Formats: sequence, C-alpha cells, structure tokens
Amino acid sequence: MKNFDEIMSLLSKYGQEHLLAHYNELSDADKASLISQIEKIDFSVLECLDESKRASAKRGTFTPLGAVTISDIERNSQEYRKIGCDIIKNGKAAAVLLAGGQGTRLGFDKPKGMFNVGVTRDLYIFQCLINNLMKVVKETGTWVQLYIMTSEKNHEDTTSFFKEKNFFGYDPDHVSFFIQDMAPSVDFSGKIYMEAPGKISSSPNGNGGWFSSLVRAGLLEDIKSKGIEWLNVFAVDNVLQQIADPLFIGAVVKSGSQSGGKVVSKADPNERVGVLCLEDGMPSIVEYYEMTPEMISRRNDDGELAYKYGVILNYLFSTEKLEQIMNQKMPVHVVEKKIPYMDENGCLISPEKPNGYKFETLVLDMVHMQDSCLPYEVVRSKEFAPIKNATGVDSVESARELLKQNDVQL
Ligand code: UTP
Repeated sequence: MKNFDEIMSLLSKYGQEHLLAHYNELSDADKASLISQIEKIDFSVLECLDESKRASAKRGTFTPLGAVTISDIERNSQEYRKIGCDIIKNGKAAAVLLAGGQGTRLGFDKPKGMFNVGVTRDLYIFQCLINNLMKVVKETGTWVQLYIMTSEKNHEDTTSFFKEKNFFGYDPDHVSFFIQDMAPSVDFSGKIYMEAPGKISSSPNGNGGWFSSLVRAGLLEDIKSKGIEWLNVFAVDNVLQQIADPLFIGAVVKSGSQSGGKVVSKADPNERVGVLCLEDGMPSIVEYYEMTPEMISRRNDDGELAYKYGVILNYLFSTEKLEQIMNQKMPVHVVEKKIPYMDENGCLISPEKPNGYKFETLVLDMVHMQDSCLPYEVVRSKEFAPIKNATGVDSVESARELLKQNDVQL
C-alpha cells in the first residue's frame, strides 16, 4: 500500500488533492481504507471529460445490416435447435447475467433482480430469469453454467438472496458470482466527489467491464477448464429474456459469425433503442440519439426500415475472441447523473438534478470489436419485457402485462 506522500503526489497529478482533506481526522482503519480506495481509482477515465476523447466523438460511417428474420428462423428451426442443443449438451455454452447496475430509474433500494413482479404470489426478477433458463436445462438435460456479475454495492444482497431462495431451483454448483469494477464520480469540473470523509464517491463502471471483471475474478480459467466456447451475455431487467437459447446459438454457429445479438423490429422509426448495423463495415450499434433523420426514416425497396433491428441486450460472444480483445481499451461514456455527495460541512446531500458525471463502458461497444455479428430477430412480445421504470414505458406494469400474455402466473 502506498503511503500518504505517495498518494498525495498521485492525486496532485490529477488535481484531486481534496480527497485527502479530512485524512487527519480519520481513524487508522479509515485512513487505510481511503488510501486503498484511491489506489483502485482508474484516473485515466478523467481524460474522457475532454469531449474529443469521449466514445461519442469517434463514430465512423454507418450502413444498415440485415438480420436472420423470424421467418428464416422458423424455416431453419430444426437445424438451429440441433446445433444449439449439441453445443449446450457438450458444455460449450455458458450464460452471463449482468446484474451490477444500480437500477436508479426503478427506484428500488435493493438489487433490481430482487424486485417482486408477482401479484398473487412472489415472483422475483431473478426467479423469472432462472425459470427461463430452466427451460433449456430441461430440454437439453444439461445444467448451463451461469456467471452472475454484481457490483460492490449489491453483491452481498444478491448472493444472500440467491442462497435464501435456494437459487430458485438452479444447481448452485453451476452458478458463480463476480464483482465488477467501480469508477469514480465527479462534479462538472472533474473533481471527484466524496460521500464521507473517508469514502470516495464511486459507481459500477458500466456493463462493458464484464469480461475484464470476470477475468480479474479468476473465472477465465474456470471457463477454459470447462471448455466453454460461447458466452451468452444478458441484462437482468428483461423478465422474458430467453437465455442460452439453443436456436440463437445454433443460428450464430451455423452462420459462421463470430458473435450474435438478439434484436427486435423497432415498434416505430423513432423508438429509443440502439440499432445493430455496420460502422465502417464492422458490426456496431448506433444509439437512437446518434441517428440522423435520414437514417431514421430510410426504407429498403421492400418498404421496411433500413435501420430496423433494435438490440435487447442479449449477445452471444466467443470466448476465443473475447480473450483476443480483452486488453483493448473500451470507449468510455460520460453520463450526467445525480450524485450524492458530502458538502463543505460534512453533510451528505442528495441532489435533485444532475450534478456531475459517471463513467461507463458498455457491452454494446464490444460488438464493434467483433469481425462479424449476426442480428437474430425475436418476437418482441415473447422475449422483450424490460423493467426500467416503476410505471409507464418499460415498467413493472408493462412487464406484468407481457408476462400474463406469455402464461406466466403472477
Ligand atoms: P441499465 O443501462 O438499464 O442501467 O443496465 P441500470 O444501472 O441497471 O439502471 P438505471 O439506468 O440506473 O435505471 C442494463 C444492464 O446492465 C447491467 C444492469 O444490471 C442491467 O442488467 N449493468 C449496468 C451492470 O451490470 N453494470 C453497470 O455498471 C451498469
């Protein structure tokens, strides 16, 4: 561990000396904790406050990308299913649940997966996901290895919850948890916030850090020793998420693509969803706010939208490619957020409007690091019921409605 002077000189390089302003008032244990928090900070993200270094500053030329459509999939379903099921039976596919987010929009103070969407019975988001994965376990007679990413903020709650609920019937020997890295939160001038005299304000560093965090947790050896070749990465908040879907795996493998992304047809041209397309000829996701009016309204000869396929945070990556790209730097997204902070009087303030930035890397940027990515179209009403908000669009209400439509008892 570095000493006070070494830490001070590190901080002065980045204009962050204020982090030690209360150092002398702290107990020995808190002093050591503060130093260790500072040692873990990745100061390089601060460079991204310079607009020219932001992820959004470096986009290339976008062109549309067609998908394997619902009717293509129906036509080839037997073949895809056979390929996918064989891969699962041979233990070559695993699933990675991204559950390190803070779920601020939902306004639930526990990990999002602990939210109960049930009405007449308990039905937790985590439970919905496990139930969905169990369908594949039953179909193939094989437990699919499940890696769950948490964050420092929700790890304890998440792991205790799974234990308390007996993993909702899943085999705990096939579940591993790992904790994602954190990034500091800063005010608009780039000064890192403090939450308490001995506590730096930090937040999970975005879902793009999942593979590096998994490697740091020592799980790459586990993956390799088990012979896992494909990782299906998915978000916690879609209760209709189909995980380790044999047809999806089969279609990607059959196509010879290096990766795949589940997509839905946009509900309308202006839907606020990232679209899987090409950027400078390589697979990429263009965010809805990056699309020009011309891109939004462009149609193919058959009248369909050219930029039609929105991503739903369900990707299939090959372990081999992930290893190749793991040391490449990912673009950092600078996001305005409401950040609780300690004021000059030592009081913790919860601001009502955004007061600074958080830094995040995003799994969708990994798509652009692939040589190819197969957009795989799924039926929205069967596979996409995200819970982002308490009410309205993508909410608990809308997800309950979709669960009912899919005969899930609430
Ligand atoms: P969101 O982008 O919806 O973020 O995450 P969030 O933090 O869950 O929710 P808000 O924006 O604060 O309301 C999409 C997926 O990525 C995971 C989330 O848990 C979710 O599965 N995620 C997000 C992480 O695992 N780590 C992160 O740092 C951020």
